[in-house]
Amino acid sequence: IKRIGVLTSGGDAPGMNAAIRAVVRAGLHHNLEVFGIHSGYKGLYHNEIESLDRYSVSDVITRGGTFLGSARFPEFKDEAVRLKAVENLKLHGIDALVVIGGDGSYMGAMKLTELGFPCIGIPGTIDNDIAGTDFTIGFDTALNVAVEAIDRLRDTCSSHNRISVVEIMGRHCGDLTSSAAVAGGAEYVIVPEVGFDQDQLIQQIYEGVAKGKKHAIVALCENMCDANRLAFDIQAATGRDTRATILGHTQRGGTPSAQDRIMASRMGARAVELLLEGYGGRCVGLQSNNIVHHDIIDCIKHLKRPFNEEMYQLSNVLF
Ligand code: F6P
Repeated sequence: IKRIGVLTSGGDAPGMNAAIRAVVRAGLHHNLEVFGIHSGYKGLYHNEIESLDRYSVSDVITRGGTFLGSARFPEFKDEAVRLKAVENLKLHGIDALVVIGGDGSYMGAMKLTELGFPCIGIPGTIDNDIAGTDFTIGFDTALNVAVEAIDRLRDTCSSHNRISVVEIMGRHCGDLTSSAAVAGGAEYVIVPEVGFDQDQLIQQIYEGVAKGKKHAIVALCENMCDANRLAFDIQAATGRDTRATILGHTQRGGTPSAQDRIMASRMGARAVELLLEGYGGRCVGLQSNNIVHHDIIDCIKHLKRPFNEEMYQLSNVLF
């Protein structure tokens, strides 16, 4: 192969720029030409492709987001759209592609590989919900944002004897929430893998208040219930002022942590090597601190991301 492309797709994640930079610099190191595709699969379809040199990725390692831009593009499920995308890649003489994103992005990479166009996936999402890797790029940074938010909420909660419900992203994965709960010392944790019984939770909080507990933090994974409604119900049952805070997209922004930058750099460089070794349809991961790669179809269809039960249990033991 002589020319490779790189794109970021789905929700952005801090550290994606470090991964792009690694793909570009590793590609150039191996005498490849590297092209950046803007706005993910959408830009691929619309032929928004430009050549990148080493200076295109100067100073991006410190920046959150993705300088290539990202998009959710459900139209890519349509084979005619994918064929046009391959046509655009061929127009630029691009032989292979690195896709940085979550499971939807992996699906696109798998479909392109099935059309005979080799792709390597790199896990980029704050949700940590991808199989075949212990961590996804952006998770650590988002976790630090959530922990800092919990610390701040604790200050004001304890000053006012309040209860705080803090909603944390993760889509349908509780990793961000349970890790933030452990690091932030939250008293109650609600994650989708376990589910929750609202009456039981309120009873527990009520008993805590009755025993003299002055304040509490409830860490709630998004998409489980309405955080404001839950806060209202807790207040009604306990008589204690309760507020909901939805961290939302604040968790997706900001300077990537050193851990995310290093992992992204390792994964980006390995993805290029895999393409040079003739692989396609693989995805890179980090397992037990080793860079590994798996069949992308296995990752999407067969490998199940293990629920981090230990972290969840720990948050319950330590509260
Ligand atoms: O996948 C990343 C993520 O931030 C999820 O945690 C969240 O559910 C979703 O994206 C939000 O998507 P959007 O930015 O499209 O609103």
